[in-house]
Amino acid sequence: MQLSDIKTVGVVGGGTMGFGIAINFALWGYPTIISDLNDEALTGTRANIAHALQLFVEGELISQARAEETLARITTTTDLAQMAGQSDFITEAIVERLPDKQALFKQLDELCPPHTILASNTSRLVLSDIGAHIGRQDKLVLTHYFAPPHIVPGLEVAKGPGATDETFELTCELLSSARKIPIRVRGEKSGYLINRIQHAMVREASLLWAEGMASAEDIELGIVSTFGFRMPHEGPFLHYDLAGIWKWPEDARNPRAIENEKLREQMLKGEPWFLDPADFDEAVEERDRAYIRRLKELYWKDGGQ
Ligand SMILES: NC(=O)c1ccc[n+]([C@@H]2O[C@H](COP(=O)([O-])OP(=O)(O)OC[C@H]3O[C@@H](n4cnc5c(N)ncnc54)[C@H](O)[C@@H]3O)[C@@H](O)[C@H]2O)c1
Repeated sequence: MQLSDIKTVGVVGGGTMGFGIAINFALWGYPTIISDLNDEALTGTRANIAHALQLFVEGELISQARAEETLARITTTTDLAQMAGQSDFITEAIVERLPDKQALFKQLDELCPPHTILASNTSRLVLSDIGAHIGRQDKLVLTHYFAPPHIVPGLEVAKGPGATDETFELTCELLSSARKIPIRVRGEKSGYLINRIQHAMVREASLLWAEGMASAEDIELGIVSTFGFRMPHEGPFLHYDLAGIWKWPEDARNPRAIENEKLREQMLKGEPWFLDPADFDEAVEERDRAYIRRLKELYWKDGGQ
C-alpha cells in the first residue's frame, strides 16, 4: 500500500484527543470518519471541532473557507462497522483501559478491509498487549499525539511487535502529509519515549512540591521561565552542545561516574552531540537571536522601557 491508497481515515473515540486528531487529517484533505459510543458524545465532538476551527480562523492560521471545507470532510457515526469498512487508516483514541482497547482492536480487525492500518494513541499501554488478539500484526502501530493534537506538531510513532517497515514508513509519510512531525521510536515501553521524558520532570516537580521545597506556583514559573523558555529551541542534547558543556575539563563533567556504559563512553569523548565545534560561535549567536525574539514577545512586551 502507498500513501495515495489512503483515501479515508477513521478515528475511534471523539473525546479530548479524537476530535483534534480528526481535525488534523481533515485539514490536510483526508475525508475523516469519527466513531464513538453514542450521539451525546458525538454532539460534543462536533461542537469541539467547530470551535477549534473557529480559533484557527481567528488566529489567522486558516481561512474561513478552509475551515468550512475541513468541517465538511468530517463525518461522525455510532456505527463502528460503517467507519471501519470505509477506512484505510484508523486511529484509536478511546478510554485508557486495556480490556476496552483489546476488544476494540479485535472488532476493528474483523470489520476493516485487510489493508487497513490500525494505530493506537495510548499514553501508557503497549501495542503487544493492545493488539495481542488481532490477526493483522503487520499493520499495528502507535501514533501518540500530544494535547492539543490539532496544534502540537510532534507525535511519536512506533511499530507493533510484528509491524513491517512498510507500515511504519507509510504511517510516518501519512502524518508528514498532514504536517505532523513523526518522532520515530525504536522500541516498546510503557509511556514509550516522550511521556517517559516528560513524566520524569513531572515526577520530580510533584515530589519537590510535596517536600515543601517550593510552592506549586514557583515550581511552575521556574520551569516555564528557565529551561522551558529555552525548549522551543533546544532539548537536552543541543543544550549540552550550545552551553559548551562538552568543552569543560573532564573532571568538571565527571563522565566516569556515569553508570551506563554506552553513555559513559559517549561522554568521555568530550564532543558535542550535533554541532561541528568550528560552528560553535555562530550557533550560539543564532540561539541568542532566537531567545531575544522570544524574550521580547513573552516578557518585554512593553519594549523594556
Ligand atoms: N488527554 C491527553 O492529553 C492524551 C494525550 C495523549 C494520549 N492520550 C490517550 O488518548 C486516548 C483518549 O484519551 P482522551 O483524553 O481523548 O479521552 P476522553 O475520555 O476525552 O475521550 C475518549 C472518547 O472515547 C469514547 N469511547 C470510550 N470507549 C469507547 C469505545 N469502546 N468505542 C468507541 N468510543 C469509546 C468516549 O465516549 C470518549 O468520547 C487514551 O488512550 C489516552 O491515554 C490522551
